[in-house]
Amino acid sequence: VLDVNTKKLGAPVQPTMYGIFFEDINYAADGGLYAELVMNRSFEYPNHFAGWDVSGNVTIKDDGPFERNPHYVRMAPTGHGDKHSMIENRGFFGMGVKGGQEYRLSLWARVPDGGKAKLWIDLVDNATMGEDQKLCNAGVEVSGSEWKKYTATLKPKTTFAKAHLRVWADSKVTTDVEHVSLFPTDTWKGRENGMRKDLAQALFDMHPGVFRFPGGCIVEGTDLATRYQWKNTVGPVENRPLNENRWHYTFTNRYFPDYYQSYGLGFFEFFQLCEDFGSEALPVISCGLSCQFQNPDPTKPGVHVALEDLEPYIQDALDLIEFANGPADSKWGKVRAEMGHPEPFNLKYLGVGNEQWDYDEAHGGFGPVFTARLKKFSDAIRKKYPNIKLIGTTGPNSEGWDFDLLQPRMKELKVDLYDEHYYRNEEWFLSHGLRYDSYDRKGPKVFAGEYACHGSNKHKWNHYYTSLLEAAHMTGIERNADIVHMATYAPLFAHVEGWQWRPDAIWYDNLRMFKSVSYYVQQLYAMNKGTNVLKLTMDKKPVAGQPGQDGLFASSVWDAATGEVIVKVVNTGDQTQPVSIQLQGIKGARTANTITLCHDGMDDENTLDQPEKIIPQPGTCQVEAGKQAAVINDNLPAKSFRIYKIKK
Ligand code: AHR
Repeated sequence: VLDVNTKKLGAPVQPTMYGIFFEDINYAADGGLYAELVMNRSFEYPNHFAGWDVSGNVTIKDDGPFERNPHYVRMAPTGHGDKHSMIENRGFFGMGVKGGQEYRLSLWARVPDGGKAKLWIDLVDNATMGEDQKLCNAGVEVSGSEWKKYTATLKPKTTFAKAHLRVWADSKVTTDVEHVSLFPTDTWKGRENGMRKDLAQALFDMHPGVFRFPGGCIVEGTDLATRYQWKNTVGPVENRPLNENRWHYTFTNRYFPDYYQSYGLGFFEFFQLCEDFGSEALPVISCGLSCQFQNPDPTKPGVHVALEDLEPYIQDALDLIEFANGPADSKWGKVRAEMGHPEPFNLKYLGVGNEQWDYDEAHGGFGPVFTARLKKFSDAIRKKYPNIKLIGTTGPNSEGWDFDLLQPRMKELKVDLYDEHYYRNEEWFLSHGLRYDSYDRKGPKVFAGEYACHGSNKHKWNHYYTSLLEAAHMTGIERNADIVHMATYAPLFAHVEGWQWRPDAIWYDNLRMFKSVSYYVQQLYAMNKGTNVLKLTMDKKPVAGQPGQDGLFASSVWDAATGEVIVKVVNTGDQTQPVSIQLQGIKGARTANTITLCHDGMDDENTLDQPEKIIPQPGTCQVEAGKQAAVINDNLPAKSFRIYKIKK
């Protein structure tokens, strides 16, 4: 028996619930959300021809028009009229193009000796030989020895998942070419430097209350030199310098030597997406410590900034706030305005550090490595921007010495929230329904910034059962709305041919995508989060989700906007269970709406070929009149998640 007290409103559910966490892992940015189809468009990868096949007389030069991306290609005559110099880009796992859709080619070029030259541009299908190989083509007339931007439109007749882009040079004239770019014109909101529409739409459809970016470990970098530096990600895309991706090296034995960050999706684009989605922006910046998975000893040079040298890092944080919120005539506000957004982005939150640790005597004895740095950031930010809410971290483990050490230190430092991460197995998720019930109510609020149920043994991939356990766990998050103010599942995206980490919320190839069951769990919570918690007891006991409660987890909220009581119940057990939901404060009979996630195969998941194999199903149920309380008598199937929506 579940008793829901609809008469008294509990803690407000924060508008920041539930959110998304974006990190460029699993080819989430370049090759994923960022709609650019050309890999290594500026020839800046350490292997300048990475991603390109070249033939004829093609050389790399380094005195190009873009200071921070100086390399370009010189395509010279070969001495034979039939033999053209040529460069051909393989894209990220090929280029997905759709028949009948337009693609915008742009490149910078010049004829170094003056005069005119022609470039021929083809989209080709190298899998099919012969006449059909060319999907479409266009020409560009280059003139003069000054660098200029040229554009052309390509419109393939057929859809192809692994096209290549070929650029042929004039056989008689030397031509220099730089920043070769190809985008669909049909991006999210039609933006030129745009996002893949289907993937951005999937994020929008999650109704994210908060958007954390840009990571994760990439914030920290494998070393300090490769940390994420937001200033390199704003301004014209041609001049945003390349950075190595932390996930170029992985601890999951999947090695991607060509994994770099073009920063085409940079901080301006992140803020713009937050605005599109109606989400609070939550940027995270480096605190001067690199990713400690690689370098456990922070005294090693290159992984750790001395406290007295931290000033430029702190300045980056202050400048970021100015970039987001400063007037259009301030130094960094001007950069934002020049990019097309004179109004401020109204940033309210800032994360300092990702998964940082302090080392006590028992664990290496380096002392308060993270918190000493966080304090310096906090002092400077609080002084200049007292309204910005600061987010600290309790390290990579939700339990253990680092968590025990850092949680009280977050309180001492008076951060507004701290970010805790948990990638845990089935058992942990089943036994942690009460995790937040006992949290200190006088300390900072919680941001569950990365979490997912990782199946034990061979089950470390997306499957129905682990998603169901996430739904069960989230009843505890919802019930503790007074202390848990943000929660973001992780990771968000994965390319089926380029993943380093799984499970993930959204999967895709070059043309298609599917939403995992975990995605639907997140979406169901976000779309049914309500405005206030309602007290729910199970068999008269004050809490849900405990052993002895037959594997049932439950929570309930009131939604002032729709006038609905929303009850969420997860049956993690093996049997159908009768549930009786007593709605104290409602008396008359009525019909309620339900949404159910239910599936027999515990290892099953949606796929590119069957994207809707497991999706929430709408339904209805009867609410019977009662003298004290109206009641829903239902049989909840084994291993299912049902949401009841009752108009009051
Ligand atoms: O989400 C993948 C990684 O997990 C993140 O980069 C890091 O913060 C965590 O260890």
